[in-house]
Amino acid sequence: MNALNRDLCKLVGRVEAADLSKINSDPYRLKFHLMPPVGWMNDPNGLCWYHGNYHVYFQYRPFSPDGSGNVFWGHWTSPDFLNWTQQPVFLCPSDTWDLHGVYSGSALVTEEGLYLYYTGNVKYQGDHDYIHTGRGHNTALAISKDGIKADSNQLLLENKDYPDNLTCHVRDPKVWEEDGRFYMVLGARTKEDRGEILVYESEDKVNWNHINTITTPHVFGYMWECPDLFVLDGQCIVALSPQGVSQDGNHYQNVYSCGYFPLYGDFRGEYTLGAFTESDLGFDYYAPQTFEAPDGRRIVIGWMGMPDADYTNPTEKNGWQHGMSVPRELHWNGEQILATPIKELEALRSGMHQVTFSGEEKCALEEGADICIENKSNQLHVQLGDGAEIVYENNLLILKLTDKSGYGRTERVAEVKALQKLRILMDTSALELFINDGQQVMTSRWYPDHADTIAFRGEGSAVVYNMDAMEMIY
Ligand code: FRU
Repeated sequence: MNALNRDLCKLVGRVEAADLSKINSDPYRLKFHLMPPVGWMNDPNGLCWYHGNYHVYFQYRPFSPDGSGNVFWGHWTSPDFLNWTQQPVFLCPSDTWDLHGVYSGSALVTEEGLYLYYTGNVKYQGDHDYIHTGRGHNTALAISKDGIKADSNQLLLENKDYPDNLTCHVRDPKVWEEDGRFYMVLGARTKEDRGEILVYESEDKVNWNHINTITTPHVFGYMWECPDLFVLDGQCIVALSPQGVSQDGNHYQNVYSCGYFPLYGDFRGEYTLGAFTESDLGFDYYAPQTFEAPDGRRIVIGWMGMPDADYTNPTEKNGWQHGMSVPRELHWNGEQILATPIKELEALRSGMHQVTFSGEEKCALEEGADICIENKSNQLHVQLGDGAEIVYENNLLILKLTDKSGYGRTERVAEVKALQKLRILMDTSALELFINDGQQVMTSRWYPDHADTIAFRGEGSAVVYNMDAMEMIY
């Protein structure tokens, strides 16, 4: 760690301490979702289990809730996903190869310590264009014995080391070990504006060789951010956040998307990709990252936000913006990924109501709720306070945001052949809808004036649990 790095870390600590009490009086602070203590956050980084704790690092702009300014790595730890500690910032932009931001990356747990791979962002001054030459996108490595402070940092790859067909947009290393070797995927944009994933291999975790490129036969977006590659219940999955995929009916409704391809064959050699499926159909979910928990579960966390969206959250004026989705457990059912909230969250359930409805029925809500609905007909209407309506009819499930925050968003649509189950995780300013045991998911921020009643119309039943807050030690 250099001196600039140390000073920057201290400065962030002071800013957090000064602003926290004001920020925590915001009624939209989340109860059971991670959020930045102050300022802006985006992607989850470096997810892992290390030395008895889950580690969630994150893209953090502590000085600017509007997302401007250089990005740091913030850090939370938890032994159980319920009790969290806010740790000091882990990485600050302070080396020649990361001066304008320590961008996204991932963790590799090794016997020598925690290896954290990230992208060092450098903005070149002068006569450069943003796409082709304006950035240094450096792949770098920080090594940490305790996972709390970086003991060393080094540059591994820079623009000149990447394949010649690429622009300067090459970022977001995801690293894993397989069969005694190490692999890394990097997201890239070619000079022809095609999104690609570069596959690298290493024997020593430090020297990396480009061995393959994963892409589609037809161009699918101009840039693939935040790639991930893992085996889920026997199926190889390539996950990514593509940019530049145009809206197609009820698909790709947001400015950018995220989702996955099943990969058949060998990611190191010959392969084909199956159809792309979006991992989330709400307004706010991007740049998810997965990791394997010690019990073998594949867990994903996504950023509850969207880059370059044409709206801003009302929390920005109170000094903070964005949050993380709840951790979700993933499974492959032979055709698609199912995503459901991790079972640990059920410990936050406190008290419940049961409702059976044939026609209309209402039930009281607390500030946080876990609502499990069984639907028995081809129509359902759920009203959540004055903030959201969920309408299921004509094989479409429509999430309508009706809050008066001036947030300016209307609806998102999922095509659902038969709605049997709908689970809603409702937080003060976040909604996560899990459709038919996680076949589809819709994640959105919402800003109700009141959310003290839920009204059902249709045929079915529901169990409505109150949700307690997670513990967060700052
Ligand atoms: C995705 C992303 C990444 C980048 C990071 C910068 O949201 O654009 O590609 O590393 O955010 O904060």
